[in-house]
Amino acid sequence: MFGKLPKQVTIYEVGPRDGLQNESRHISTQNKVTFIDKLSDTGLSYIEVTSFVSPKWIPQLSDAVSVAHDIKRNDAVHYSALVPNDEGLERAISVGMKEIALFISASETHNKRNVNKTIAETLKEFHAVITRALDLKLKIRVYISTVFGCPYEGSVDPQKTIELTKILLDQGIYQVSIGDTIGVAAPNEVARLLEQLLKQISPQQVAVHFHDTQGRALANCLVALSLGITTIDSSIGGLGGCPYAPGASGNVATEDVVAMLHSMNVHTGVDLDKLIDCSRWVGALVGHELPSKYLKSHRSVKKQRGTQ
Ligand code: HMG
Ligand code: MG
Repeated sequence: MFGKLPKQVTIYEVGPRDGLQNESRHISTQNKVTFIDKLSDTGLSYIEVTSFVSPKWIPQLSDAVSVAHDIKRNDAVHYSALVPNDEGLERAISVGMKEIALFISASETHNKRNVNKTIAETLKEFHAVITRALDLKLKIRVYISTVFGCPYEGSVDPQKTIELTKILLDQGIYQVSIGDTIGVAAPNEVARLLEQLLKQISPQQVAVHFHDTQGRALANCLVALSLGITTIDSSIGGLGGCPYAPGASGNVATEDVVAMLHSMNVHTGVDLDKLIDCSRWVGALVGHELPSKYLKSHRSVKKQRGTQ
């Protein structure tokens, strides 16, 4: 299995979006901008900076336009943002976003709770959004959420994800991100689904997005990598969660993924020390301990050294 690991992996950082959408403490626009600017300086090549969803649904990111406008853009970084509908797309365009991420659930009830529409209505809306975005030469990825389990319906038929993937890629999006929104996937389930998908599409067209609720996210990343997937979504410190998925905890922590990959000589282009500095900074900003294991171990190693 290890012989098959890719040499290079792309980390798609979702902390400023998936992370901050779930925080209860108010974070100022300036602090969000500083956070993204710090991330831009770590070697990450993809950062999801915010979400152009309704401020009534996600008040934490109501300053999306100001944040996307004020960040210092690094030419080596692709900046993206979540968009739910045409109104979100117009807001994204107004601040010059070149990449967007749409989202839909594999389970009907989560989709309805998350965007107030059925899956069929969402796909209809997407069609218009995708058409306009492609006309403007924007790059589009789509998250498929609740792929391995739904907080309202329980288990989810993998066929739903396979069907959605095909419909969406046929419309010209560049990638689907397979979301274990509530963090319940077993590694063999991940393998089974990805093997099915990869019979029809290339590994570059798939990213994986694991939340770490039950501590399985790194194992699931490893399974995906061994099958040829080369894009992993993660969130610095392990921030994150979906406010419309009760029980969902944070994403797999970026520093945990990067440290694991580097320990196996898989390149990410990310500077782990800078990442840790940024993680400490954002931990202080949100005002609670972050779940990242690497961050904690790094702290205790430093403490031990300090007492010698
Ligand atoms: P709705 O209430 O049905 O919308 O919400 P509506 O079209 O009836 O409009 C109602 C009001 O919202 C109107 O304003 C619109 O203008 C406004 P009013 O006339 O009442 O003043 N509105 C907007 N304002 C700003 N930006 C917009 C926008 N759209 C409408 N884009 C809607 C429907 C989709 C907007 C809402 O349900 C929504 O924003 N939902 C997003 C919820 C969300 O962000 N959830 C977390 C996402 S994370 C996730 O899904 C998982 C993921 O991380 C992957 C994984 O973990 O698996 C991606
Ligand atoms: Mg998520």
